[in-house]
Amino acid sequence: MRLPTLLILILQVAVADSFREVFGYLGESVTLLSGADPLWNISAIEWSILSNNTWIATYRNGKKNVDRFWRYKGRLSLNTSSGDLMISNLAKEDAMLYTVELKNTEKKDNRSKIMLTVRKHLQKPNIHTLFSVLKEGSCLMVLQCSSPDKGVDFSWKIHPSNSTIFQFSNPKNQTSTLCTSFSHHSEVNFTCTASKNVQNTSSVQTARCYDDTPVKTDRFGLGVILGFFLGIVLGTILYFSRGRIKAALKNLKEKLTVLCTSCMLVGRF
Ligand SMILES: *[C@@H]1O[C@H](CO)[C@@H](O)[C@H](O)[C@H]1NC(C)=O
Ligand SMILES: *[C@@H]1O[C@H](CO)[C@@H](O)[C@H](O)[C@H]1NC(C)=O
Ligand SMILES: *[C@@H]1O[C@H](CO)[C@@H](O)[C@H](O)[C@H]1NC(C)=O
Ligand SMILES: *[C@@H]1O[C@H](CO)[C@@H](O)[C@H](O)[C@H]1NC(C)=O
Ligand SMILES: *[C@@H]1O[C@H](CO)[C@@H](O)[C@H](O)[C@H]1NC(C)=O
Ligand SMILES: *[C@@H]1O[C@H](CO)[C@@H](O)[C@H](O)[C@H]1NC(C)=O
Repeated sequence: MRLPTLLILILQVAVADSFREVFGYLGESVTLLSGADPLWNISAIEWSILSNNTWIATYRNGKKNVDRFWRYKGRLSLNTSSGDLMISNLAKEDAMLYTVELKNTEKKDNRSKIMLTVRKHLQKPNIHTLFSVLKEGSCLMVLQCSSPDKGVDFSWKIHPSNSTIFQFSNPKNQTSTLCTSFSHHSEVNFTCTASKNVQNTSSVQTARCYDDTPVKTDRFGLGVILGFFLGIVLGTILYFSRGRIKAALKNLKEKLTVLCTSCMLVGRF
């Protein structure tokens, strides 16, 4: 056997064993494409799962059956001209390998495999203002964005201007903190986007500093800063006692940055 022929054979085996990946969302519908040639006149379709090739949807001799397996009862619809299978109301257990075998009227066969992954939609993040301080026409604001989902990445957008002083994310408790300063006359839109596995979802909060409560806000701001400081001390002791020096130092740095920036701005008053 010559080398190119061998290579083609190996490639054919590899292609036959490969599968397409499809993503669906919990509670929603997904269509598994059969991959049939659109010119084909399909005479038989067999969708199967598991290693024992359990049929879940079939079409033979002009008869369609989509109620073959109890777990999919009432949730399947089969398009007999394209061979595509739609699964509705997706459950976690539907995530598996699906095999489809097609025959056309000329007795040609086609077989393909589809790996279905079922994901949960990301939940919207929550934004809240940790504190805001107003003086000399500028507003210092610290906001926190938190997500009910684990392992998300955060990004912030500020409209109209990008007035970020700094931001940091804490993956442990799924939060991101944003420190920002802007002209107190402006109303500012903060958008926090949580993203994970090519999904993303955002929340928007509109915020501004108010003229009539500068003293109160100042006190509140200072209280929060004091709180931050206490938090640093306690947090550091806790972290050190657990021997997580590196994490503690990073945490300390983050909190000191908040504290120092806040003091700098408050100090200007
Ligand atoms: C498919 O069926 C249609 C009508 O039944 C026919 O006109 C056409 O030639 C068929 N195509 C093939 C590829 O067999
Ligand atoms: C295939 O296996 C599944 C679970 O292991 C079982 O529920 C099903 O009845 C089997 N199907 C056939 C045709 O043996
Ligand atoms: C079945 O598939 C064909 C070809 O993709 C499409 O034109 C048709 O609308 C589908 N039918 C249904 C009921 O979805
Ligand atoms: C806004 O500024 C911050 C820090 O200065 C930067 O990290 C971020 O990428 C900027 N965002 C945009 C949308 O320009
Ligand atoms: C998450 O951690 C940050 C920094 O350690 C802290 O400031 C914040 O209060 C925590 N948020 C929640 C919701 O626990
Ligand atoms: C998610 O991100 C993509 C690319 O980054 C973007 O085109 C899309 O609009 C975003 N969707 C949402 C809901 O933010």
